[in-house]
Amino acid sequence: MSMQSGRRVGVAFVGMGGAVATTAIAGIEMIKSGSNRLDGLPLAGLSVAGMADYKDLVFGGWDLNGDDLATAASGHGVLSKDDIEDGAEALKGITPWPAVGSAKFCKNIDGQNRIVAKDHREAVSVIANDLRRFQKESNLDDVVVVNLASTERWPDLNDPTLNSTAAFEKGLDSSDEAISPAMLYAYAAIKSGIPYANFTPSVAADVPALLDLAKELNVPVAGKDGKTGQTMMKTVLAPAFKARALHVDGWFSTNILGNRDGLALNDPNSLQSKLNTKGTVLDSILGYPVEDHLVHIHYYRPRGDDKEAWDNIDVTGFMGQRMQVKVNFLCKDSILAAPLVIEIARVLDLAHTRGDGGVQEQLSTFFKAPMVKNGRGPEHAFGKQEQMLRDWLGVH
Ligand SMILES: NC(=O)c1ccc[n+]([C@@H]2O[C@H](COP(=O)([O-])OP(=O)(O)OC[C@H]3O[C@@H](n4cnc5c(N)ncnc54)[C@H](O)[C@@H]3O)[C@@H](O)[C@H]2O)c1
Repeated sequence: MSMQSGRRVGVAFVGMGGAVATTAIAGIEMIKSGSNRLDGLPLAGLSVAGMADYKDLVFGGWDLNGDDLATAASGHGVLSKDDIEDGAEALKGITPWPAVGSAKFCKNIDGQNRIVAKDHREAVSVIANDLRRFQKESNLDDVVVVNLASTERWPDLNDPTLNSTAAFEKGLDSSDEAISPAMLYAYAAIKSGIPYANFTPSVAADVPALLDLAKELNVPVAGKDGKTGQTMMKTVLAPAFKARALHVDGWFSTNILGNRDGLALNDPNSLQSKLNTKGTVLDSILGYPVEDHLVHIHYYRPRGDDKEAWDNIDVTGFMGQRMQVKVNFLCKDSILAAPLVIEIARVLDLAHTRGDGGVQEQLSTFFKAPMVKNGRGPEHAFGKQEQMLRDWLGVH
């Protein structure tokens, strides 16, 4: 167990009614009421001074869907009726705050629970107000924001609005179309001095305009795209192949999933964002390009949140002999993701209390496309990432 810090930490989720967010909240509420164990929480066994205890986390957040969290959760099919009735009773009393969304950035997801704002600037001020109110009303020592909303399409990264803080600020006043909802939340958090993590593949705090702002204001930021299933396995296996000098000739990855995340990814533009964050992992670990690295994601309703991932890996060994490795991971998407989100929030908060601002690279282990300091390439190898986190936490 972590040492009790006694601080109350608010976690504000963008996409609070989603499968991952409701699972994270339910899991922690069940820990509070004694009906959930600590399995799946990677930092549960560690003793780290100043890190918030699971029981001291308080939840809030935004969603385009205004349903209370018990109703939202029962639609996702991750939690059983008993889970919702029993330990996660608290879900019934939580309703998401109105959200800012854009069909231009996320086509397949819509909802009526919307912030009324005349422009980007006003939307940002509503989001910042929500955070202040949350902190005050829930009597919180600190707040962190985690993006768990549906995947947005990739923006035009060359757009000057995204490349300097000053241009971005101007873009807020003119409701510039280059600015996505994910960026509005990220900006509002960073500008309020509140740590921000992006668990989605959407582009947010990683644009130079927001990265510079986070550095300038010394606010911790981390991302992006949670590394939960197939990519996690990839970053465990690839370093082993490299260590044994088994040349990877090809890596064919395919997935089926039937939750709302899958529905959002059914839009080719959102899918491309996911493929972008999944793509570079292998080449970077192995040190040479794997020309036949194919990744497919298919929306397949009957599976709901039970994602199935297959990998076929072709390798060449001694004397040019060829071999194959097959991996079949029958995982539960939100059950893998939710505890990582909780740990990301706790580490970000700890970074804040340590005065450690800007990109929190030690969180790389939790992300498919880790954000990095100083423009160097990210570390993808799982073992090295774990060591980085342990070193930062001061545990051995
Ligand atoms: N589950 C995993 O293993 C995993 C891994 C990596 C990344 N992710 C990412 O995490 C995110 C959440 O996944 P999920 O399975 O919970 O999806 P979900 O579809 O169940 O939840 C997303 C929620 O976001 C809400 N939303 C959409 N746009 C919004 C906006 N602009 N503002 C506020 N709310 C908004 C939706 O109404 C929905 O309730 C996705 O982007 C997914 O790609 C998930």
